[in-house]
Amino acid sequence: MNTLIRKKRDQKGYTKNKKATLFFLLSGEHPTLPFSEVKSIFEAEGYKYRILEKLIQVLRVETDVDSIQAVEFRAAMTRVCGVELFSCNAVITEIVQKLLNTPLHDFIKGGESFAVRIQRVQGCVPHIVGMELERKLGKLILKRVKGTRVNLRSPNKTFFGVLTGKKLVFGLKLIDIPPTSFVKRNSNRLFFHPTVMSAKLARCMVNLAQPKTGNLVLDPFCGTASILIEAGLIGCRVIGLDVQRQMVEGSLQNLLCYDLNPEGIVVANARQLPISKVDCVVTDPPYGRSSTTLGLSTQQIISDFLIVIENSLPKRGKICIASPKTVGLGEIGKTLGFNHLESHFYYVHKSLTREIAVFERT
Ligand SMILES: C[S@@+](CC[C@H](N)C(=O)[O-])C[C@H]1O[C@@H](n2cnc3c(N)ncnc32)[C@H](O)[C@@H]1O
Repeated sequence: MNTLIRKKRDQKGYTKNKKATLFFLLSGEHPTLPFSEVKSIFEAEGYKYRILEKLIQVLRVETDVDSIQAVEFRAAMTRVCGVELFSCNAVITEIVQKLLNTPLHDFIKGGESFAVRIQRVQGCVPHIVGMELERKLGKLILKRVKGTRVNLRSPNKTFFGVLTGKKLVFGLKLIDIPPTSFVKRNSNRLFFHPTVMSAKLARCMVNLAQPKTGNLVLDPFCGTASILIEAGLIGCRVIGLDVQRQMVEGSLQNLLCYDLNPEGIVVANARQLPISKVDCVVTDPPYGRSSTTLGLSTQQIISDFLIVIENSLPKRGKICIASPKTVGLGEIGKTLGFNHLESHFYYVHKSLTREIAVFERT
């Protein structure tokens, strides 16, 4: 586990190295990216894990409780993490029975206050009213653990359930991850350009490339540094290239704004790489709408870059690239001998759907 995460975890006093069934409520903005982001964080931080179930916006995993700190520190597309008490069909009698069978004293003691919160995600069963279920489960908890009381404003413990599809996943909430810091970073940039990528997508892409703290992350088409900022904020060293001087100067301004000192920000052509070793690559090459391609096709730029980067990456080093779906990223990477690990298709607007592909050096 990296030092930044350990420091955060120690401040919060979490139990170390304890295996549990955890659940993650994921953002509904994309059907596959948030799941892959959590998995990639486990991989990057070296947590052993077993995926139990993928439900709509919910991931159930058996892993170390500690891993929640890594997800809190790194994830852009996770909203809530908790330790699961039970999951079952969204049928009131079954839910009540499951709660009665749960060793509640392991999670709340007499003298503590609590709240029960139920969140519905799109497409869940229509017949259960969240507030009614909250009240019902709250009463049961009060009855079963003597000396507890309800406090909806600032409870000691929050029991949290997600109604997803035909199921309820119920547990103790450990952390909330509000998206506010990402939203702020979209508007708080000294240097802006219309090609800018959102902080949230940039962070997610960084996670998909699985860098560890201290790893060197390259963005060879860095533009305004959105990707480099997100990599820097999770403790990576960063290096950026852009063929336009004004972008390089702007990138540097934006990085310094977050106290991030890059290893290098260079005016350079990514097709003639001036670097010999990096740990991974996260990038969003130009596709000729608002960003220059210097007269080349996006396919050509990406192919040329993939050819020159191969020997600068370690074995199994990852590359996460975004490009319009029509470019056919997956095929380009495979043809050049990279392992194509995954592709996600991200709708931006009517005439742009991005493919976000992850490759690995063989
Ligand atoms: C889509 S923009 C990157 C946007 C960036 N992700 C952001 O959020 O600001 C692509 C960038 O690639 C740069 N570029 C174009 N051709 C290049 C090349 N051959 N080598 C390096 N940079 C190049 C452009 O100047 C542009 O800034």
